[in-house]
Amino acid sequence: MPVILTRENIRSLLTMEEVMEALKEAFLSYSRGETVVPLRLGLEVTPYQGISLLMPSFQKNPDGLGVKLVSVFPENVKKGLPTICAYYLLCDAQTGRLLALMDGAMLTGIRTGAASGLASSYLGRKDSRVLGLLGAGVQARFQLEAMKAVFPMLRELYVFDVDKKRSARFIEELPSDLRMEARVAQSPDEVVSRADVIVTATTSRSPVFQGKLLKAGTHINAIGGFTPSMQEVDEETVLRSKVVVDTFEGCLSEAGEILIPIQRGVFSKDRIHSDLSGLVSGKQRGREDEREITLFKSVGTAIEDLAAARLAYQKALEKGIGLPFEI
Ligand SMILES: NC(=O)c1ccc[n+]([C@@H]2O[C@H](COP(=O)([O-])OP(=O)(O)OC[C@H]3O[C@@H](n4cnc5c(N)ncnc54)[C@H](O)[C@@H]3O)[C@@H](O)[C@H]2O)c1
Repeated sequence: MPVILTRENIRSLLTMEEVMEALKEAFLSYSRGETVVPLRLGLEVTPYQGISLLMPSFQKNPDGLGVKLVSVFPENVKKGLPTICAYYLLCDAQTGRLLALMDGAMLTGIRTGAASGLASSYLGRKDSRVLGLLGAGVQARFQLEAMKAVFPMLRELYVFDVDKKRSARFIEELPSDLRMEARVAQSPDEVVSRADVIVTATTSRSPVFQGKLLKAGTHINAIGGFTPSMQEVDEETVLRSKVVVDTFEGCLSEAGEILIPIQRGVFSKDRIHSDLSGLVSGKQRGREDEREITLFKSVGTAIEDLAAARLAYQKALEKGIGLPFEI
């Protein structure tokens, strides 16, 4: 019988480290051509400024089949609701039968954090001590968890959000075992001038910091923008960085940070150093010197959702967690 896995179930079943490992395996499988991942289908829900994305994928060996429906409604913030609503259907790859219906928002947060964590483990400086978060919403919390997992030397945290109440609440709600000195930054410039690692996790359509202020050796995870017109990170950052994308297909069709400089003729797709599968398979190098600026641009891929969902389902079976239901 299929099971329902709630957001609390998913949270209790998955650790960031395990999901990073599952994503690594999934990207290796992708590099061997063992996955089928069509570009996601985006459905504009114009009257409500929303967009719903349908993200299916199939992976061979180990087998997996599933689809996520994720909707991004930025106006939800004003209603006190999360920007993202998501649901995941995991099916048996040999029969197509339903195995589990899962909360997809928790799955998305953890897998997006894990993707940044995985990329950062190849691109960031191991001795990074200062983390800067631009955007203090839902994703930022998972990104912080992932950065803590990858950079054990982190000691300081600067948080900036255009909504000051959100950054203040973010600091108040930090876990007590964080072991980092955390403060609200007064401006993005303050974050960028201090940070060794930066995460941009905003809904902004225009650049949230000035790339000219980046210090040598900084690593940036830019996760917020997911349409060709959104440019959360400016052109200067892209031009100054070694650029790695989650997938070429995804970023070359959806990431404004990459597409806008290409359209303007100042950047080209040949200048993208690698995708994540290139790094994990060892075909491409990560960071090569201490002064390099590195940028990981992600728009998210169904490969990640499937990897995290399979892991959650396997662990749920082992632990007897989940509500069985007939359909
Ligand atoms: N790359 C991926 O795989 C992936 C996965 C999930 C979500 N996302 C995207 O990440 C973004 C953030 O998602 P979320 O769930 O955290 O949303 P959220 O609404 O919870 O948080 C976004 C925050 O960004 C802040 N913000 C907006 N403009 C800003 C600016 N210029 N400077 C600083 N802060 C600013 C908002 O005030 C808000 O607090 C969304 O665009 C979402 O679609 C990407």
